[in-house]
Amino acid sequence: MNEITREALFNQVRDWTLQAGILIREKINSPGKIDIKSNPNDLVTEVDQEVEFFFANKIKTYYPNHLLLGEEGYGHKEIDQRQTIWILDPIDGTMNFIHQKQNFAISIGIYDQGIGEIGFIYDVMNNNLYSAMRGGGAFKNDQKLEPLDTNKQLNQSIICLNHYWLTENKHYDHRIGQQLVRDARGIRTYGSAALEFAYVAEGALDAYISMRLEPWDVAAGKIIVREVGGITTDIHGNDLEMLERSSILTCNPSLHDTLINNYFNAEKVT
Ligand code: IPD
Ligand code: CA
Ligand code: CA
Repeated sequence: MNEITREALFNQVRDWTLQAGILIREKINSPGKIDIKSNPNDLVTEVDQEVEFFFANKIKTYYPNHLLLGEEGYGHKEIDQRQTIWILDPIDGTMNFIHQKQNFAISIGIYDQGIGEIGFIYDVMNNNLYSAMRGGGAFKNDQKLEPLDTNKQLNQSIICLNHYWLTENKHYDHRIGQQLVRDARGIRTYGSAALEFAYVAEGALDAYISMRLEPWDVAAGKIIVREVGGITTDIHGNDLEMLERSSILTCNPSLHDTLINNYFNAEKVT
């Protein structure tokens, strides 16, 4: 993707994201019908669908060669990774959207031939737009984010880990999570993976860990975190597959080896 095309696309996506944010704010008190998807905690509202439909229509009209992978199913069925792909979560943190009316985000990552080019995470209720273009740094609104401090120790760090991962589960040995609670300075959880990536990018969190995320939860965040020097892999240190569900570790670069070697890949955690 050449520089001019990419910049024009960036500006266009930013405008549409802000417009979608207005739509969400207008409906914050009337999200319409709420449906349950795979389990009672997996929710979708008419607003999630409306926002994805809004982007699907724009892409179809203005970028007919681009593909959309979206959570709510308005995207393309077949995704060829060599194309330009928009990976969209119209509302990341739907449970928060319904219950709290805050702490959710629109998340859009644009990949061209498998390379993350543009990322947007829009904290709709706080009107904070996190963005990045590959090689151009990351921003919170108009403010460029600082590169992450490369001297962080775990005992000076705040780690984001959903409480569920401290209970026995089939994805990893939950005692590793419990040990992290003991070893880190603090543990937080916000209920929106995209926002948690954004907080890692701005240094408010030093790592975010999850055992099971979908491509649309991470697509934008990975691009934004990379621009401030952060690292995103699965919990064993492997690169992520753009279109696969995976465990996630996104963090300050000085914590990555420690978390992988002393926790997730360690034979025994003490
Ligand atoms: C969810 C949120 C949540 C994470 C879940 C995701 P959704 O996304 O990001 O923080 O723990 O795994 O599914 O369903 O609200 O878009
Ligand atoms: Ca999500
Ligand atoms: Ca969602």
